[in-house]
Amino acid sequence: ITYKEPFRNQFHFSPEKHWMNDPNGMVFYKGIYHLFYQYYPDDIVWGPMHWGHATSKDLVHWENKKTALFPDKLGYIFSGSAVIDKENFSGLGTKENPPMVAIFTYHNMEFEKAKKINTQTQALAYSLDEGETWTKYKSNPIINNLDKKDFRDPKCFWNESTKEWNLVLVAGDRAQIYTSKNLLNWKLESEFGQNIGEHGGVWECPDLFKLKINNEEKWVLLISVNPGAPNGGSGTQYFVGDFDGKTFTTNQKDTKWLDYGADNYAGVTFSNLPEDERILVGWMSNWSYGQKTPTKNWRSSMTLPRQLSLNKINDQYILQSTPVNSFEKLLKKDYSKAVLDIKSNKKLQFDYPSLNESQINFQTKAENLKLVFYNDVKDSLVLNYIKNKNEFSVDRTHSGIINFGENFATKVHTTVLKNLISDQIKYQIILDRSSIEIFLNDGLYSFTEQIFPNKPYNHLKIISEEDLKLKDFKVSAVNSIWN
Ligand code: FRU
Repeated sequence: ITYKEPFRNQFHFSPEKHWMNDPNGMVFYKGIYHLFYQYYPDDIVWGPMHWGHATSKDLVHWENKKTALFPDKLGYIFSGSAVIDKENFSGLGTKENPPMVAIFTYHNMEFEKAKKINTQTQALAYSLDEGETWTKYKSNPIINNLDKKDFRDPKCFWNESTKEWNLVLVAGDRAQIYTSKNLLNWKLESEFGQNIGEHGGVWECPDLFKLKINNEEKWVLLISVNPGAPNGGSGTQYFVGDFDGKTFTTNQKDTKWLDYGADNYAGVTFSNLPEDERILVGWMSNWSYGQKTPTKNWRSSMTLPRQLSLNKINDQYILQSTPVNSFEKLLKKDYSKAVLDIKSNKKLQFDYPSLNESQINFQTKAENLKLVFYNDVKDSLVLNYIKNKNEFSVDRTHSGIINFGENFATKVHTTVLKNLISDQIKYQIILDRSSIEIFLNDGLYSFTEQIFPNKPYNHLKIISEEDLKLKDFKVSAVNSIWN
């Protein structure tokens, strides 16, 4: 039975069967959130890519739809984005029924085999029935590049200030920014990135959007990179700066990361949402072991949809992410205590049928604190905050099944919380059957990790070397979205 299998996440999107990677073409239209995704419908490893499709009314419950885009003679269908062409600038629909337009990458396997360079081109498809059926544009591809092998992942958006379409894509070690009036003809305006940021691998899956902070407006450029992430393999970095419709500039010097866990990759945001809503979904996996995880008839899920916002700390812009509000609909408050008192060096043990389908919240002084989730077959997952190093770590090296990929459990994932300036830490910990998402101080830091415990964790040990009070301690069961 689907969605009941071991390790099947109960409140995260995953396709009913087979292989999934990046989220694609996320667009909100007529009250419906559309999620397309990199999909291979014949196996549970990566293969000839399609666009799978699912829809949601609330970003929490998902309905599986027919596969949207199939590979053809121009190639596999790689990642890309979707917009609503409300004014019908493209002429592909009408003003009364504007087209949903997807711009994606074709990856030409024949060219790859022939060792040609220009294997990747950008192409367009449109739907006149709200994403149900798609027509590929007759003059594809629409953007070519003869001298870049890695040239992909177009993210298109309407720029209200310039009244033009913009598109950002990646070309090897840089992002390229384009403009268009009609979504069909694109002009390259600028490049960004050769000498800045993390370049452990080629750049992938860019996104560019505006966020408000106090009375300022800043632009955020997201860039996924694989390898090069702080805790190994795939990760998503970001730059905060300005954008005039043609060129993105930043004063930022250091590399910043959207998430410090190992399993949040290729995340991009929805188009066509109200200005103050910027919602991201990421692929909850990592290319270093993503094709080997111990699931049987499907592989991987998406992160919870996350609301993004900007914060300014010590004159630095910081991107925060926190689960969308509608997630709260799934919570059943189960246990709560106004103050949980941890007396120094005494462990407090909390037992619960399945911590793997729950959320745990509390707030405490930033003091040494160790949380050990474990079960009766000796699997344990350890979260540890060490005050004098201001360091937070996630240790999944004994979390359950770990031996499927060399890079899954080779080290403890450690992060220095240099933006944490308050002496309080607010914890939000969300565990599903095969994932944990941790948000500290309303998403100032987030950590997303896959885990494969042999049995659900049913105990939580809370350990501190100080006398520590955990305030508003709350455990909530999370309802499944699949039944
Ligand atoms: C990122 C990525 C993209 C590409 C897609 C192929 O995970 O490598 O750059 O378009 O996956 O499936």
